[in-house]
Formats: sequence, C-alpha cells, structure tokens
Amino acid sequence: MNHQVTVADTGIRFSCAPDESVLDAAERAGYALPHSCRKGVCSSCAGRLAGGRAEVRGHGAVEGPADDVLLCQTRPRGDLVVAPRRITERGAVSRTVHTLRVHRVTWPADDVVTLQLRLPAGRRVRFTAGQYLKVLLPDGDTRSYSLANPPHRNDSVLLHVRVVPHGRFSAQIAPRLSKGDQLTVELPHGEFGLDTDSDGSGRPAVLLATGTGFAPVRSLIEDCVRRGDERPLHLYWGGRREQDLYERHTAEGWAARLPWLTFTPVLSRPETGWPGRVGHVQDAALADHPDLSGHDVYACGSDTMTRAALDTLTTKGALDPARFFCDAFVASGEQRQDAATAAAV
Ligand SMILES: Cc1cc2nc3c(=O)[nH]c(=O)nc-3n(C[C@H](O)[C@H](O)[C@H](O)COP(=O)(O)OP(=O)(O)OC[C@H]3O[C@@H](n4cnc5c(N)ncnc54)[C@H](O)[C@@H]3O)c2cc1C
Ligand code: FES
Repeated sequence: MNHQVTVADTGIRFSCAPDESVLDAAERAGYALPHSCRKGVCSSCAGRLAGGRAEVRGHGAVEGPADDVLLCQTRPRGDLVVAPRRITERGAVSRTVHTLRVHRVTWPADDVVTLQLRLPAGRRVRFTAGQYLKVLLPDGDTRSYSLANPPHRNDSVLLHVRVVPHGRFSAQIAPRLSKGDQLTVELPHGEFGLDTDSDGSGRPAVLLATGTGFAPVRSLIEDCVRRGDERPLHLYWGGRREQDLYERHTAEGWAARLPWLTFTPVLSRPETGWPGRVGHVQDAALADHPDLSGHDVYACGSDTMTRAALDTLTTKGALDPARFFCDAFVASGEQRQDAATAAAV
C-alpha cells in the first residue's frame, strides 16, 4: 500500500510506495529535490523528517522529527511529513537513449581524456547546463558523466573523463575509443544547474570545481554567456598539481573577457615556483568571501570537496545550506554501491 508524503509548509503531497525512496516518488510526481549521487554518499538530498516513520538505508527505522535524513535512502513505513532543503515543480522528464559516434578523443592531461561524441546528422539532444548523461555498458551497468558542452551546442556531447586506476569505463574503455566507435548513452539526468529567480536573474555565486568537476562548470558558464546571464561568478578550480587544471586557458580566457567572472586556480600540492593560491578551493573561497549570506555556492567534483565545502561554508561563511548546490562525482557503477569515493576527482 502506498503512503502519503506531505512536504511541510508547501501544500505539496505525493504518494510513495514502501519500496520507493522519497526522492524517487517526488520525481515521479513531477517535483525536483536537491540530489546528486542517489546512493547515500554525497548528502545533497539531506532534509528533515518532520513526522512519521521511515526506513533509512544504513540507519534502520527512523521516527520523525529527525534532521539530516537522506531522502534518497528514505522509504516510508507510514505517512510522512518531510522538509527538503528545496522543492520545485518541474515538467515530466523525458529521457532518450542515443547511439553516438566518437568524433574526437584528446588527452589534455595524462589522466584526463575528453570525448566528443556526435549524433547522427540532423539530430539534437536536449539538456540543461549542469546535467549529466549515463553511458550504458553492454551488461546493463551505467556510468555517469557531466556534459561539458552548453545546451545550445547540442549536435554532439563533450565529456571530460578522469582515468580512475582500473576503472571499468574510465581506464579500460574510454582511453581505447577512437573516431567512429559507438557509445550508447541515456540523457538528460540530474537537476544540477544555476538557480534562477522568476524574473530571470540570479544571485552572485561562487563556483567550486575539483579536477573534472570543471566539465559541468564549463557548460554552465558557456550557457550564461549565451543567455546574457551576467550574475557575478567567482570560479575556484582546484587540483593537486598544475596539470590537473587541464583546461586552464579556457577559464583564464573567460576571466579576461567576461567582466562578471573571476577565476582563481588553487593547488593543494604545487610544485616549487607555483605563484598562485595553495590549499583547497573551499578555503580559498572562504578567505575571499567571509560572508556568503548573499551568495549561492555550486560545488562540482570529488565527494570529499563537496562535503567539506558544505560544512566549511555554512559553519564559517554564513552560507544558507539551501543555497548550496552540488554535483558530487561519486562512483556511479551499479555494482559499486559501497564505494564511498574518498579520492579527489
Ligand atoms: C552525477 C555524476 C557525474 C559524474 N561526472 C563525471 C565527469 O564528468 N567526469 C568524471 O571523470 N567522472 C564523473 N563521475 C564519476 C564517474 O561516473 C565514474 O564513477 C568514474 O569515471 C569511474 O568509473 P569507472 O567505470 O572507470 O570505475 P569503476 O570500475 O566504477 O571503479 C573502479 C574503482 O575506482 C573507484 N572509483 C570509482 N569512481 C571513482 C572516482 N570518481 N574517484 C575515485 N575512485 C573512484 C571505485 O570505487 C572502484 O574501486 C560522475 C559521477 C556522478 C555520480
Ligand atoms: S546522498 Fe542522497 S543524493 Fe547523494
């Protein structure tokens, strides 16, 4: 028997099956909640269970009121009242499966491969900046990759893939692809993207990226340029070494020509002679923006960074947790559910 989920202070109600997560049920009913990994790793779906009894994977039975409940892991055991960090109405999601041909493969760093995949002539894909696709592997497993191209350049897709040691897709398939090879993908997925007010404007924002977390940022910024969205953006892109900022010239180019964009590269283990900032992106952002109460923060990349950024910036930088948006690159394979990624992407 389905249970009713009421969203506190909104008048929104939807039904949720006992074996369905509150996140899945909300999406089925046409609502978007903050989320990223859907695996209980990234915490972006954390909300309040204001009332009712639920089974929360990894925690067992939880009775409301309870804070910081992961709604992607919460299944109802009766009617529930929940208070997610945000909820917005959205149209029905229509995803499509495409067989794409590899058009170009490049290696901007020794552990990053970029794939440009083309649709058949005359075909286009529909997505919004910040979304990702799933590569469908022959055995039905999937891997998620953010679209690095903006939505208006949609006769092909661009992926930035960091090679994970022994990774099934990133180490064993992606590096061996060459022009003409085929990949089957499903898109669009995810709700990550710049939040825009009803009048089309947006709050000043800090963008944090580590490693290939630059991919969704690239799509977001090129989309802003296209739409004439000139909200102030400060991009911090971090890596261990200089090579990790594998497309630094692109970010420097934006900063040189877009008066509303600032770019700060940050390295955690620079070689001698590095003239730039040293440390982690969230600490650099906090040093430059000690009061983030009027800002949005968008964090893309390693789960380690996105968690640390949420913690640091909300506790020390006065950031409203509801204004923290995250795209956490956790291990996306179905058979790797226990892989709470600790390494930086
Ligand atoms: C929403 C989303 C968007 C993503 N976008 C991107 C993207 O644009 N670019 C990108 O490079 N990656 C991205 N990822 C990560 C990507 O989906 C894969 O998980 C990653 O490429 C590894 O897949 P694999 O098949 O090579 O490794 P697997 O065979 O799945 O795993 C091999 C080993 O590596 C570990 N591992 C898996 N992923 C990671 C990781 N990210 N960091 C460290 N260790 C890992 C596994 O636990 C396992 O031990 C994204 C993930 C999500 C959830
Ligand atoms: S923990 Fe729920 S979406 Fe990541």
